Order: sequence, then structure tokens, then C-alpha cells
Amino acid sequence: MDLSKVSDQITKVLVTEEQINEKVAELAAELDKKYADKDVLLVGVLKGAVMFMADLSRAMQIPVQMDWMAVSSYGSGTVSSGVVRILKDLDADVLGRHVVIVEDIIDSGLTLSWLVGNLEARGAASVEVVALLRKPAAAKVEVNVGLVGFDIPNEFVVGYGLDYAERYRTLKGVAVLSPAVYS
Ligand code: XMP
Ligand code: MG
Repeated sequence: MDLSKVSDQITKVLVTEEQINEKVAELAAELDKKYADKDVLLVGVLKGAVMFMADLSRAMQIPVQMDWMAVSSYGSGTVSSGVVRILKDLDADVLGRHVVIVEDIIDSGLTLSWLVGNLEARGAASVEVVALLRKPAAAKVEVNVGLVGFDIPNEFVVGYGLDYAERYRTLKGVAVLSPAVYS
């Protein structure tokens, strides 16, 4: 859906569809170079990374496999608790594989740092993170992120996979949600 359709529900567009397309192509080219002779498993984090994974994987020119994990780091609100639960585990065995975690957004970093450690503990040959968005001001732990698309302000954002109460995921860009929507 175009951002213009919800212009009354957002306060600011942070990343446009065009900016995402351009960035995804750049990130894909970097991954192609880095993993040219490697067996890569892209691990998408459900559900937020679905759009990013779909576009990034298709923009890549080396053959890769995809798998998915669903984890929960939030109670019910919009603040990370640091407690991570696996809601859906990988189908693939990561032992000896080069894993690239595809993530929508790094907020506190708690979810990702846990995920990286978890996949390393399973014996992955390497674990790298590619995230479309990052909120530097919200970082609570350092995550070794290989590639980041955009650094954004510390505000709750929706679109391109990111939701508020399961809405707005299908927006083509990323925007700050109007506070009026929360009430
Ligand atoms: P942490 O804090 O562990 O959280 O880095 C990462 C996960 O939290 C979700 N998240 C958001 N979802 N708008 C969203 O729709 C946001 O602004 C936002 N910030 C964090 C997201 O699922 C991410 O994987
Ligand atoms: Mg969410």
C-alpha cells in the first residue's frame, strides 16, 4: 500500500519506497561479494522481516537458502523486555553454515544479540546480521551488525513489514505513526 493512503495516520515519512529499493540493491550487492563462494542460509525474523527478506533475497545474484524464525522479546507493549522466546524455530540445521540473519529493525539490540548467540551456539560457521533499520539512540547492548540500511530516530515506526497491532505491515515505505493512533 502507498504511504499516501495513510497520510492522516502518520506524522513523518522516514524512508520512501525508492530509498528502500536503492538500499536493498546495495545491500544485496555487498552480500553477493562477501559470500560469493559460500553456502549461505538467510534467516528471516518473522514477521517484520518478511518484506525485506523477499526483496533482498531476490536482489541477490548468488544462490541462497531461506529459513525463518519467530521470536518474541516483547510482553505486550512497545518496549523490549530482553526476555526472548522462540515461537517458531528454524527448519534447517545451521551446523557449519554461513548464516545471515535478516532483521527489520534493531531497537535495543536485545533480541538480536540473543539470536546471534543462539545460532553461534548451534555451531554455525559464521553469523552475520543485516538489518534494514537501526535506532542508535535506543541501543542497550552492542550488536555486531554487518550491514545496516538506515539509522533512524528513536520513534516507533511502521511499514515495510513493521506493524502496530498487526496493521501497516504492507506499507511500501517506513513512517512514524501518529500518536493519535495509539489511543
Ligand atoms: P530489540 O529492542 O530487541 O527489538 O532490538 C527488536 C524487535 O522489536 C520490534 N520493534 C519494532 N517494531 N516498530 C515496530 O513495528 C518499531 O519502531 C520497532 N522497534 C522495535 C521489531 O520486531 C524488532 O525485530
Ligand atoms: Mg512487531
